[in-house]
Amino acid sequence: MSDRLRVLVTRRWPEAVERALAEQFDVTLNETDEPLSQAQLADAMAEFDVLAPTVSDRIDADVIAGGERVKLIANYGVGFDHIDLSAAKTKGIAVSNTPGVLTDATADLALTLMLMAARRAGEGERELRSGKWTGWRPTHLIGSALKGKVLGIVGMGRIGMATAERAKHGFGMKIAYFARGPKDEAKALDAEFCPDLETLLAKSDFVSLHIPGGAATSNMIDAQALAAMKCGSYLINTARGGVVDHDALADALKSGHLAGAGLDVYPEEPQVPEALLELENVVLLPHLGSANAETREAMGLRAMANIEAFARGGDLPDRVA
Ligand code: DGY
Repeated sequence: MSDRLRVLVTRRWPEAVERALAEQFDVTLNETDEPLSQAQLADAMAEFDVLAPTVSDRIDADVIAGGERVKLIANYGVGFDHIDLSAAKTKGIAVSNTPGVLTDATADLALTLMLMAARRAGEGERELRSGKWTGWRPTHLIGSALKGKVLGIVGMGRIGMATAERAKHGFGMKIAYFARGPKDEAKALDAEFCPDLETLLAKSDFVSLHIPGGAATSNMIDAQALAAMKCGSYLINTARGGVVDHDALADALKSGHLAGAGLDVYPEEPQVPEALLELENVVLLPHLGSANAETREAMGLRAMANIEAFARGGDLPDRVA
């Protein structure tokens, strides 16, 4: 029997990283690339030394309870609200993530959503593909400019900052932020720190969410928060779906209080809240924040670096629990 660490990779990774991982460890891939069931995940905890899950796996207390063998959960991704950290800690299981490497890709997507929502790009594409476009006219699908508008960043961490930089330097927006800082980098952007969420919401033409998911931020953007947003403003979410009350968001979009929204994440993926699907003024993307080839490879290498450190008995570079 091999004395190499047994590693279960729950979803397919970029091939080059899978190959590199298999050179060092006894790797089992989930060839179907379908999400494993909760029972399969729990069984895996007793069979493997390392579990390498993604955001599509729910590593809850019941799964972790089966963890007789697993000593490391090396998440492929930066967010870890799908992993019960306190249950892992109780079992003596370390948890790592992949910070930093998906900052640019996610910030790019936040700007993509802002532009798509502000310029009604989704509506336009649907109209054209359905054969309903009747030609150019001065009043057709009029959107909003970004230049000179206030972008309110909720969560000025790495991704919030990268989004703010793009908005400021690329599109001439003004930046306000809440939830972390103030930092020197934020000062360099002339970014205005807001002491509370309401202040930020009331002054922003666009609000972009960059906070972690989980109990502390669940439904943070609820009906009251949406009502506090400026009339005619836009909400962008590339963070986690649970941060937003989607029924309240659908109401705010229907009433016209919000001009639009751009979403990449949902509370129960891959389900998308029904009320949003029928609205024209919301852009809906399927959790694409980190989806470019360079980033997905870098995420794999970063997860692998944590597994290697664990195998050597060293400190994990990206330990979160
Ligand atoms: C992340 O890394 O958290 C992204 O949402 C994809 O998992």
